Amino acid sequence: MFPLPANVICLPRTNQIDALLTMIRDKDTTRGDFIFYSDRVIRLLVEEGLNHLPVVEKTILTPTGKEFKGVQFKGKICGVSIMRAGEAMEQGLRECCRSVRIGKILIQRDEETAQPKLPPDVKDRYVLLLDPMLATGGSAIKAIEVLLENDVPEDKILFLNLLAAPEGINAVTSKFSKLKIVTAFVDQALNEKKYIVPGLGDFGDRYFTSP
Ligand code: PRP
Ligand code: URA
Repeated sequence: MFPLPANVICLPRTNQIDALLTMIRDKDTTRGDFIFYSDRVIRLLVEEGLNHLPVVEKTILTPTGKEFKGVQFKGKICGVSIMRAGEAMEQGLRECCRSVRIGKILIQRDEETAQPKLPPDVKDRYVLLLDPMLATGGSAIKAIEVLLENDVPEDKILFLNLLAAPEGINAVTSKFSKLKIVTAFVDQALNEKKYIVPGLGDFGDRYFTSP
């Protein structure tokens, strides 16, 4: 799906990302390996996502007594995972951002309700929204609406996603042009069951429950 909308960032195609995605797409990959290799991709997504947060100048003194004009992140962040699969991305965020606050939104696919549990000051934070799969976009749109209802400015939302369908990208970006989506790969399409193809199957089942 190229060119991608301006607010969608796809991880660069490298041998590493191709090999990691091949492992997690393979139906014969064991649950242990699925978790290990998904976690590797999630870590790369978080690292890329952090590149898109604003910084301000900060000058420090090094142990040699010299000044260094550097930067620090501007403002506070939090994570918000879309349950259940999004919870698999929480650890990757914690590994990069120590003691980060993490909220949750329970959304069942194809259902209208959402049960949020968000940090009380969520509106004052950059929100890293976590969900590995963007299929029709229904769940992501609902979660983004919940964040907006809680006064999070749209341009402070960064949606981190492992695998996206063009349909989901279109649905989210045609409604929201100010947030950013960082994804590891944009797949071909959705099948008749609204699964991403070629895809990787049901992420939540493979990460949390399959043998
Ligand atoms: C998956 C995934 C997303 C949603 C994407 O969750 O984690 O939340 O589907 O599909 P959509 O873009 O069409 O809304 P699922 O409902 O399978 O639940 P799970 O997280 O419990 O596995
Ligand atoms: N959720 C998944 O886990 N996989 C898909 O392909 C679509 C939604």
